[in-house]
Amino acid sequence: MKIEFIDKKIKDINANLELIVVIDKNFEHDLVKKYQNTLKEVGFEGEQDEVILLAESKKIFVGSNSIKSKDIRPAVASAIRVVLGKNYDSIKMLTYLSHQKCTATMRALAEGIILGAYKYDRYKSKAKEPKLKEIYISSSEYNNKEVDKAAIKRAINKGIETAQAVNLARDIVNTPPDDFYPKIMARVAKDIANNEGLEYEILTKKEIAHEKMNALLSVARASSRAPRVIHLSYKPKDAKSVVSLIGKGLTYDSGGLSLKPSDFMVTMKSDKSGGSAVLAILQAVARLKLPIEVHGFVGAVENMIGGNAYKPDDVLRAKDGTTIEVRNTDAEGRLVLADVLCYAQEKVNANYIIDMATLTGACVVGVGQYTVGVMGNNQKIVDKMLYAANVASGEMATDLPFNRYLKKTLKSNIADICNIANTRYGGAITAGLFLEHFIKEENKQKWIHLDIAGPAFVEHAWGENPNGASGAGVRMVTRFIEKLSDTKHEE
Ligand code: BES
Ligand code: ZN
Ligand code: ZN
Repeated sequence: MKIEFIDKKIKDINANLELIVVIDKNFEHDLVKKYQNTLKEVGFEGEQDEVILLAESKKIFVGSNSIKSKDIRPAVASAIRVVLGKNYDSIKMLTYLSHQKCTATMRALAEGIILGAYKYDRYKSKAKEPKLKEIYISSSEYNNKEVDKAAIKRAINKGIETAQAVNLARDIVNTPPDDFYPKIMARVAKDIANNEGLEYEILTKKEIAHEKMNALLSVARASSRAPRVIHLSYKPKDAKSVVSLIGKGLTYDSGGLSLKPSDFMVTMKSDKSGGSAVLAILQAVARLKLPIEVHGFVGAVENMIGGNAYKPDDVLRAKDGTTIEVRNTDAEGRLVLADVLCYAQEKVNANYIIDMATLTGACVVGVGQYTVGVMGNNQKIVDKMLYAANVASGEMATDLPFNRYLKKTLKSNIADICNIANTRYGGAITAGLFLEHFIKEENKQKWIHLDIAGPAFVEHAWGENPNGASGAGVRMVTRFIEKLSDTKHEE
């Protein structure tokens, strides 16, 4: 999809269709007024994301509650989704966003276009090539106004890069598990590294064993697909701070011997969403040339059953020496992350440590399918992440506070810690607290955990997201890192 910010009047742009965004049900606006009666006639009310195509007039209308990015992004995506199935190959639009601070809205607009145009049809025998190829945004309305067109162009480009990274994560997560196992994940990581000029290191089973990552290896043991630990790094000159990202890359989660019921196993190809997001974010920060050093670590593992499977009652020894009593083999993500968190802390002395994981069903029960759960000891960083999500990126996130009583529920009689809590309540937080055990004392204030189990994979389209993988976490964490670019890290 090509998006062009073009120096022509709207009437001089040659395109099949014109997209008009109706803001806040304002049918009196110059652009809309002429069509007011027709729109009334067909029952278009201008509700958020409501789309109507007036084929004869070659116009498509969509409602948006405001010009805020969080409204514009899903509105535009909804309109694009309607056009995608039709025969149009180009769209033009005027934005009438001629106020000075329109760059945020313009970025959201570009994101909405690229995110809305996403389709996963690689496994359809008769996939239709989408016809829609070009979107022209007229810049003529900015003439003679104190608006920096170059800044708008930059904002649009940022939106395109971020959304393309989101679509990369979606592609990875949507790929069926028989075609996407740890070795493939490592190959994809290598390809990203080569394309973007990143450094990479891939640990195979032997090297993982050498690193004493025995919790991860136990989870991987019953699978015929050997695990990988992936490390990508983006190291710009004069970096202002250092960020380590750690992703759960369960290419499949059957539950292991604590086998998932059939209905719960379906969609578990999405258990690699955290790791996929980490890889996509590395692509984004490299393409945006952010002045921040970013490391991405992924534990790529398949959780299966077999005669040699790890078992409830086993006691595992993690990389840092912690002994873990296994009481449920379906709480495997935290075992993999425990080792990768230890590895990441040993490898890189980061200012921020962020892990991303489809960690618990409890998070989905607690806050719903569309929201990321954010946890950590440092409320300042949690708040920064919530801002990056809810205000800047358009992803939804909320904090789930730790407390010392929940921490006690992870006590084990036989080992240092248990992989599940002794209570059915607060499962997202107890999982977060399990991870917290593996954060070194000097890093306790630097780390946050994102549980993306809800939004990572939803079986219907919502806002700017399609049915299936959403690329959850990519936009919010990229925004978080972008924001770090504004200031040099100080202790
Ligand atoms: N991958 C799942 C969590 C999950 C559930 C992700 C639903 C996406 C949608 C994780 O490994 C898991 O199975 N967690 C268990 C933990 C329990 C055994 C303590 C869960 O949430 O039930
Ligand atoms: Zn599981
Ligand atoms: Zn899992």
